[in-house]
Amino acid sequence: MTATEAAPTAMFTGGVFAPVPDEIDAHDLEVIGNIPAELDGRYLRNGPNPLPGDRAAHWFIGHGMLHGVRISSGRALWYRNRWVDNSAATGQPILDASGRDLRRNSANTHVIEHGGALLALCEGGLPYEVTGELDTVGPYDFGGRLRTAMTAHPKTDPVTGELYFYGYSATAPYLTFHVADAAGRLLCSVPVDVPGPTMMHDFAITEHYVIWLDLPVVFRPQDRPTMPFVWDENYGARIGVMSRMAGRGAPATVQWFDIDPCYVFHVGNAREDDHGRLILDAVRYAESTFSMMWGAIGGSSSRGHGNLVADAGLSSVLHRWLIDPATGRISEAQLDDRDVEFPSINDDHVGRASRYLYAVSGSGNGGVIKYDTDSGATTEHQFEEPHHVGEAVFVPGRRADAAEDEGWLLSIVSPADGGRSELLIMDAGAVAAGPVARVILPRRVPAGFHGSWISAGDR
Ligand SMILES: [Fe+2]
Repeated sequence: MTATEAAPTAMFTGGVFAPVPDEIDAHDLEVIGNIPAELDGRYLRNGPNPLPGDRAAHWFIGHGMLHGVRISSGRALWYRNRWVDNSAATGQPILDASGRDLRRNSANTHVIEHGGALLALCEGGLPYEVTGELDTVGPYDFGGRLRTAMTAHPKTDPVTGELYFYGYSATAPYLTFHVADAAGRLLCSVPVDVPGPTMMHDFAITEHYVIWLDLPVVFRPQDRPTMPFVWDENYGARIGVMSRMAGRGAPATVQWFDIDPCYVFHVGNAREDDHGRLILDAVRYAESTFSMMWGAIGGSSSRGHGNLVADAGLSSVLHRWLIDPATGRISEAQLDDRDVEFPSINDDHVGRASRYLYAVSGSGNGGVIKYDTDSGATTEHQFEEPHHVGEAVFVPGRRADAAEDEGWLLSIVSPADGGRSELLIMDAGAVAAGPVARVILPRRVPAGFHGSWISAGDR
């Protein structure tokens, strides 16, 4: 390992990133405020937490750990944390087209429910199924049908319940598109032609289309074997539009639109407008921001190593692309100038018209921002003391005619001083008012990635 590789490791293994050493359970958690009575389920969150003695070379590759809080009847019944046990992957390897064992991955990025299964996801391999108590069942390959890696950002169509996803690979085919039905049966797997292997962290769907993000963070194992992706502007940058029925009667033909080089980790939402155009809202990184951040968390960077805390003011901003398949034109606009990440919406609007988008802010003391993307208005809750703020997951309200923003935002926040974390519950209709309830967790929860609310009725 070179000196430049070693330098950032201490940064992303300390402070709010520092792993916890064990698995614990706690019951009847202290609550400040009032948990909404209609919340009945589990908030689950995934993130990297290297095993004791492990020294991950990049924040993204630490062993996955799930944190869960069970909420019911206005009470926080329990908290527990469990590593995803990938030692459960015994027996025959499950190989992709290049002969790689897809079970070998950290399962550290997201956790979702689909077709009755809880799945811990990481884009480097197969999902791992876990129980509602966070015990590992084992690798999940859709009944033997999935033979590529699976993105950690699949999209559930809110109307059909189908799960749209993809896998990317260092070897051809570099990109494979998949659809599973609402029950979890894999309906199709079809290769999609892209110029080369890139780190494709997220994508979008609309009612009729899939939107690909083929961006200049390319596979380059000779530069850094442990996290082999580097910015290479020579690759170009393009957004692709493909029929959602590819593999089910339509060809996997992509209409590409060249864009200014950038990187996107996370899509907010996409939809079709009345003129047949596609609107994509996502958090955009310029090259300088991406390279600084990538270096800080352990990747190879042309800009040296930043510090995630010091760099919190760097721009990763909400951006909109307007894509017109009829004319072949694309335009883009910055929607806000605040540094944000982890965009979220009411998932009942995925791929359809949506007005509200939520994101977490690393600026100031940290906060949660609500965007009204129709009017451009924003509201924000900022913390009084410095906090690391986790993704704010939207839980829809239970009223039959609930408005799009009628519901709750759940986020694990951690004081920068290393104190115990809290699960915050905010009224999505009144973000600026701050949390309606603070569930005091028994420990600090390391900064992590994504989570889901799993309603009691879904498990
Ligand atoms: Fe992500």
